[in-house]
Amino acid sequence: MKAIQYSRYGSPDVLELVTLDDPVAGPNEVRVRLKAAGVSPIDAKLRSGALQAHFSLTFPKIPGRDGVGVIDQIGEGVVGLFIGDEVCVAADPTRSGTYAEAIVCASSRVVKKPPNLSTSHAAALLQPGVSAWISMCRTAMLSEGMSVLIHGGAGAVGCQMIQLARHLRLNVTTTCRAQNIDYVLGLGAHRAVAYDCYDYGDDYRDDFSLLRHIDVVFDLIGGETHARSYQVLKAGGQLVYLSATPFENQAEKYGVSVTRAMISDAPEALHAVAQLAGEGVLMPGVMATLPLAAAADAHRQFEAGQITRGRIVLNMEDGS
Ligand SMILES: NC(=O)c1ccc[n+]([C@@H]2O[C@H](COP(=O)([O-])OP(=O)(O)OC[C@H]3O[C@@H](n4cnc5c(N)ncnc54)[C@H](OP(=O)(O)O)[C@@H]3O)[C@@H](O)[C@H]2O)c1
Repeated sequence: MKAIQYSRYGSPDVLELVTLDDPVAGPNEVRVRLKAAGVSPIDAKLRSGALQAHFSLTFPKIPGRDGVGVIDQIGEGVVGLFIGDEVCVAADPTRSGTYAEAIVCASSRVVKKPPNLSTSHAAALLQPGVSAWISMCRTAMLSEGMSVLIHGGAGAVGCQMIQLARHLRLNVTTTCRAQNIDYVLGLGAHRAVAYDCYDYGDDYRDDFSLLRHIDVVFDLIGGETHARSYQVLKAGGQLVYLSATPFENQAEKYGVSVTRAMISDAPEALHAVAQLAGEGVLMPGVMATLPLAAAADAHRQFEAGQITRGRIVLNMEDGS
């Protein structure tokens, strides 16, 4: 099979297109013949070595958390999955990933592909969808009618957070670059604030930190964005964050709670996201599709801050 792999930490230049033997499914594993892979921020952070303190990798490493394909081999002990099933894959970040024509993974890491999603959309579903679902349905204490501020609404996670928030009947404000205002309103946000043209004026449309009485902030950005988010919360409000740029926790000063969403590939989360996508609630963002061989270019675009409106998807089916 063709695959992308790296044998040391470094820039996108360490990514190489190689030919390898097909992996073989062991007990409780399936082999998936992949059609496409989503390119996630964590793929680039792992490759650069930035996450060495958190994840121990074995080289050579095939990157890729998200993928979609067809099961073509079933290991002993697997129940409920069959050869020919179309599935989405949530690959273990420390094992072989999805930038390949095939992957072997635990059967608990695949879910049936929602039939209404295209191959590209299915490849971009699980990692951002699970991040959104765990943040909103297992971390925040939400109830109908609450007001939420979602930072980074035009990103892959933010896109699915906006859709999920509307499904939960929340009042949704989001931040994004000015060019993406129409995009996030189209996803369902009630109002949007550009982060790249505020002038600290006297209107929230110029500066999200002028918002008030928000019940829950979802912070996917950290740093200065995090620091300026406390004042928008009502007393007793919640700030739920995903790991991004470091920040100072000021929960006590503002009388709010600050909670990290602990993202995992729990089967409960994978199945919930696939079901919501199947019901038409979640439609992942896809910025572009590229051939598998262009993985290094995809990582360069991420590191240049050029990723917007969802994932780059690597396509295995174009013969590259
Ligand atoms: N386990 C975890 O804790 C976990 C899991 C998933 C994600 N994350 C983190 O969550 C973040 C988002 O992930 P993702 O997959 O959605 O990334 P992504 O698809 O690359 O999207 C990032 C988005 O951030 C937006 N952005 C950048 N600066 C901003 C600012 N100052 N204010 C508001 N928005 C801003 C950009 O919006 P525009 O396009 O409008 O410029 C971009 O679309 C990443 O840092 C990722 O590492 C952590």
